[in-house]
Amino acid sequence: MNLISNESLQPFDFVLFGGTGDLSIRKLVPALYYRHREEQLPDDGRIICSARSEHDDASFRELLSRDVREHIADSEFEEASWRSFLERVHYLAIDVTDQDSYAPLVELLAGREDRVRVFYLSVTPGLFTAISDGVHAAGLITEHSRVALEKPLGRDRPSAEAINDRLADVFEEHQIFRIDHYLGKETVQNLLALRFGNAIFEPLWRNYRINDVQITIAEDLGVEGRSAFYDETGALRDMVQNHLLQLLVIIAMEPPVSIDPDAVRDEKIKVLRALKPLTGIDAIENTVRGQYKAGAYSSGPVPGYLDSDDVPNDSDTETFVAIRAEIASWRWEGVPFYLRTGKRLESKTTEIIINFKKVPHAIFPAADGFETPNQLVIRLQPEERIRMRVYIKASGDDIQLQPVDLNLDFNDVFQKRRLIAYERLLLDVIRGNPTLFMRRDEVDAAWTWIDPIHAAWAQYQYRPKPYTAGTWGPGASNALISREGLKWNED
Ligand code: BG6
Repeated sequence: MNLISNESLQPFDFVLFGGTGDLSIRKLVPALYYRHREEQLPDDGRIICSARSEHDDASFRELLSRDVREHIADSEFEEASWRSFLERVHYLAIDVTDQDSYAPLVELLAGREDRVRVFYLSVTPGLFTAISDGVHAAGLITEHSRVALEKPLGRDRPSAEAINDRLADVFEEHQIFRIDHYLGKETVQNLLALRFGNAIFEPLWRNYRINDVQITIAEDLGVEGRSAFYDETGALRDMVQNHLLQLLVIIAMEPPVSIDPDAVRDEKIKVLRALKPLTGIDAIENTVRGQYKAGAYSSGPVPGYLDSDDVPNDSDTETFVAIRAEIASWRWEGVPFYLRTGKRLESKTTEIIINFKKVPHAIFPAADGFETPNQLVIRLQPEERIRMRVYIKASGDDIQLQPVDLNLDFNDVFQKRRLIAYERLLLDVIRGNPTLFMRRDEVDAAWTWIDPIHAAWAQYQYRPKPYTAGTWGPGASNALISREGLKWNED
């Protein structure tokens, strides 16, 4: 199966629950518009948005014109194609907990049972099962139906299992698309291409040659308007359980036998299952929790996490996590994987650093930089680039080494706009291609590793350490990595 297929789509009805929500306005509707503009949506593709508020098609289309516009790049916006896009869009007010309220949807979908039917749940997880039960009871699930769910899927393994069990009562596993939008990023798919489309990396990709791996997802934004949700969630559930672990898995997985969805996911789950459990005091020693306090960026001062009205002033929710993880396998035994993520850090940066081992025997005199190993830096955000640090002879009449970076900036390679994550993912849901979605056992395995960390934090009453907004997190994060004589890459 081609990961970047351009195959045309079957006619569809895309039912978007949470149609007036933030994600719909900022990401989902713009993504569908981009694909419409590229003429990839079939004429008969309808987008049926639903929420509780009262609108008719006309007033909802006006709302979209007003609110979505700022989330579409100027260079991509065309008045005529936006107008024709809006003709696909319909609106129905549905109270998803009231079965009678599904009647207009039943009416709108009647006679279209042979079309692909997507139920996209961009709603709080507390409503997942109400909606799946609701569309089931309304007789709306056909063999061409799929359901797509936004993370977080539960808050621990038991709650995720409960949601998955209820979904499994009405949908087959192949109809369930669990979204981790990081998997839709072109840069993340590019990791697969880099590892498995090039023969040169594979012999190096193991503990004989790699010293340590660092994965950072840093954000400069705070929790913005989501404090209430975030305070219930925290960085471990919001970012580590899904996005960070998915990056780790793609870096660490064995080569799949093919690019078929289950071949890829079968390899991914082996990594999740091979993560050494962090329990009790081990979890305390190998993790750092942090919470930002007020600080400043060049654009001005920002308040601290506890300054938000929606956050209790004694909240111990973490906005930063660093973890030293290990994978118990032949390939990775002895290689530490350092993971970190946080809000209000110095800059928005997502990158993966592969630090290679030093040469086994040094024949050149030590020079500045000689102690740092060869390094592969895969930067995913904000810009997409790959940098390989190698050593060359410094100019001069003696033999001294000097590091230089071989740089590949993807902007130089691609002239066209890169797809946003949701463009790929929404089309894959419509196509029914599950490669970039999490299978049930992956979600379970990720929670199995995460839950004992939460339990240890509670058991040892490990409160988050404060850090100043605009920095790289609490000092304990540096202490964690420097125990092994390493430091975070912060170029
Ligand atoms: C979301 C988290 O899944 O990912 C947010 O809930 C976070 O808290 C966001 O800000 C980061 O995504 P991206 O694509 O901006 O790196």
